[in-house]
Amino acid sequence: MADRLEGVLVVLGAGVMGTAIAVTAAGHGRRVVLVDVDPAARDRARGRMDLHLRHAGLLGAFPDGVAPAAVEVVEEFDPADAVAVVEAVTERADLKAKVIAEVSAALPPGVPLISNTSSIPIDELADAALRPEDLVGTHFMNPAYLIRQVEVVRGPRTGDAAMAAVAALLADMGRHAVVVRDSPGFVTSRLLHPMINDAARIVEEGVAATDDVDALMQGCLGHRTGPLRTADLIGLDNLVDALLVLHERTGDDRARPCDLLLRKVRDGDLGRKSGRGFYDYEEALS
Ligand SMILES: NC(=O)c1ccc[n+]([C@@H]2O[C@H](COP(=O)([O-])OP(=O)(O)OC[C@H]3O[C@@H](n4cnc5c(N)ncnc54)[C@H](O)[C@@H]3O)[C@@H](O)[C@H]2O)c1
Repeated sequence: MADRLEGVLVVLGAGVMGTAIAVTAAGHGRRVVLVDVDPAARDRARGRMDLHLRHAGLLGAFPDGVAPAAVEVVEEFDPADAVAVVEAVTERADLKAKVIAEVSAALPPGVPLISNTSSIPIDELADAALRPEDLVGTHFMNPAYLIRQVEVVRGPRTGDAAMAAVAALLADMGRHAVVVRDSPGFVTSRLLHPMINDAARIVEEGVAATDDVDALMQGCLGHRTGPLRTADLIGLDNLVDALLVLHERTGDDRARPCDLLLRKVRDGDLGRKSGRGFYDYEEALS
């Protein structure tokens, strides 16, 4: 394991989460290769990473005396010296299954393949993996470099060695793991996503304005940012994708994305990443 911890962390998907996970690892001194199929996403990630590194530095998110390591942003990666691969590609089960099948065939046995899915059961994704025992769910929160708690999902076929390797990797990145059993949306998305959907429905029905919903959740119930500001931070496209996964797999009507969310995604109002969602932002993050 000591040798393995020397390796490069490969992160697939240079979107909101992939970029922030890459920054978190780099800020703890680990070399990272960040991979995306989309050249525009790779360009955006380079700009976003500088912003995240400055933000994280200002907020003291990284250990003193550790020089941030380099993040290489590329189209393809070499699996040979990977300590682990984190997939943070778009929240579509078919796409993730394809990525997991390809990567698990290329990785040496024993190198953990980590899915950052927010809602798809790990055992469903494990069907696509060559070695289901190497697949672990590791649900980083956004922004990953500030939130130290990580929800780790152990699928029924996940092996002890992969769990131990992921625990060591997360500790090395200064993260605290809470391990949960596999299930659609796990703990955090199963609780958070329907709540955000309800908050959007409240706005859609004209019960309260966006900032009043957030003000009540912050001021009365101690929510740190309010559900609709959180939705903008997540990205409304990703939120809708995750709600659809939850709805399809649980039948819970609270998880059926409301019309307001669907309309905003159709209009390209995706939240912070596009400069407008429930709120307007001076500058798009991407
Ligand atoms: N946004 C959040 O707050 C949040 C929080 C926790 C978990 N997640 C999960 O993390 C994952 C990524 O979410 P996101 O918000 O960063 O999405 P995003 O849409 O911002 O980024 C996804 C990226 O994946 C890339 N991609 C698609 N197919 C690929 C492939 N085959 N190889 C490499 N890259 C590919 C896309 O080009 C895009 O840049 C999802 O599973 C999501 O549910 C998101």
